[in-house]
Amino acid sequence: MKTLVVYFSRSGHARELANVLSGAMRADCEELIDVRNYKGFFGPVRGAVNALRKSITHICPPRFHPRDYDRVILVTPIWGGIATPAVRSYVDQYGDMCKKIMLFSVSKKSHVDKVKEDLEKTFSVVIENAVGFTEAQLSKGDVLTQMREMSAKNG
Ligand SMILES: Cc1cc2nc3c(=O)[nH]c(=O)nc-3n(C[C@H](O)[C@H](O)[C@H](O)COP(=O)(O)O)c2cc1C
Repeated sequence: MKTLVVYFSRSGHARELANVLSGAMRADCEELIDVRNYKGFFGPVRGAVNALRKSITHICPPRFHPRDYDRVILVTPIWGGIATPAVRSYVDQYGDMCKKIMLFSVSKKSHVDKVKEDLEKTFSVVIENAVGFTEAQLSKGDVLTQMREMSAKNG
């Protein structure tokens, strides 16, 4: 199955997860670039404001086209309980061109279910599978083993 991993990351956690997933699946990997600057002291504040407004942003044109893939895996940090503006914008622009969508989130503690629900309701897409990691889980390492354990627990 030809897979594309698409991610946004401000401080590196989602990037780390996206790299593990794309490596394990031999997938192409696309980093989304938000034209808004979320770096520096006030970066998180700007991020929080945009997340709470559920705002859409401008992302740089992607290198890979989702139409060329059987499956697109979105990897996003959770901001204000939902996906980042860059990932929401990607789904807004390209969601209807994705044959299958899977979702991975990274957060301090928020749950992936709300992120999935927001993307599905707002952009009329179907997300086949959603898996959430906290930073604490990521720091334990071996994401792939944890995923196997999660799926064994969930049957
Ligand atoms: C603007 C902003 C809003 C955030 N909102 C939440 C939140 O609602 N729930 C949560 O658990 N973590 C929240 N976080 C924490 C991030 O989801 C978490 O640090 C994540 O690992 C960041 O991923 P990154 O390193 O790839 O940027 C927020 C972080 C930022 C900067």
